[in-house]
Amino acid sequence: MAIRGIVLAGGKGTRLGELTRVTNKHLLPVGPVPMVYHPIQKIVGAGIKEVLLVSGTEHMGDFVELLGSGKDHKCSLTYRVQDEAGGIAQALGLAETYCAGNRCLVILGDNIFHASVKPMLDEADKHPDWAWVGLKQVPDPGRYGVAELKGHQVVGIEEKPKQPKSDYAVVGVYIYPADVFQVIKTLKPSGRGELEITDVNNYYLKAGRLGHSKIEGYWTDAGTLDSLAFANQLVNESPPVF
Ligand code: DAU
Repeated sequence: MAIRGIVLAGGKGTRLGELTRVTNKHLLPVGPVPMVYHPIQKIVGAGIKEVLLVSGTEHMGDFVELLGSGKDHKCSLTYRVQDEAGGIAQALGLAETYCAGNRCLVILGDNIFHASVKPMLDEADKHPDWAWVGLKQVPDPGRYGVAELKGHQVVGIEEKPKQPKSDYAVVGVYIYPADVFQVIKTLKPSGRGELEITDVNNYYLKAGRLGHSKIEGYWTDAGTLDSLAFANQLVNESPPVF
């Protein structure tokens, strides 16, 4: 069984205000390159050459103009449109035919981190029919999906909890088996009107099929003005490895 790469670069980017008035969040600079280069380079660095990029209608043309066939990034790129920002899990659901029965490595387009994803992929390869998530200790867990841990075990994941049960964020790097698309079809929209990736991860947790890796080095999202500035600082100080 092969594995496909997926970059999710849709969404509204409303938290960036004027910066995303005429462009897409993932086209803004992080270090010397547009944000979207980072997840693509992580996927290719992990040895995956087939990559799907999902984004909305508004800026898909810009992505195609920027990235083309993917040859400059040593991968073969395919594009799929998410008509409306219905959530991360909805965006992933659009990859069903592309994945065609294969596993997938999914990276959220606004996640910036130092380490290669190869070690996580190597761990996940031991359980190819499990889902696999990355965890990172953060100072502000309430902004993210948060894992509740008992010893080394993840026993629950909550999306943006008011009272986080740990400081371990579930980062936007996920590995899924081929049945993830069946799971997505069972989801109902959350309070914020989105199909939540946290619900997908909790499905696998309850089924006893969720593994995790701790992410080494820095990790941040870049979806707010503060975190975008922080991501730039981190990347400029210590360029990511792929
Ligand atoms: O950054 C990690 C966090 O990402 C996780 O800890 C959370 O569990 C997860 O829900 C997500 O949280 P956010 O609410 O911050 O995600 P956001 O809406 O900013 O979307 C993150 C990326 O996902 C965004 O850069 C593009 C993609 N996306 C998002 C939505 C809502 C899509 O492609 N389509 C969408 O409809």
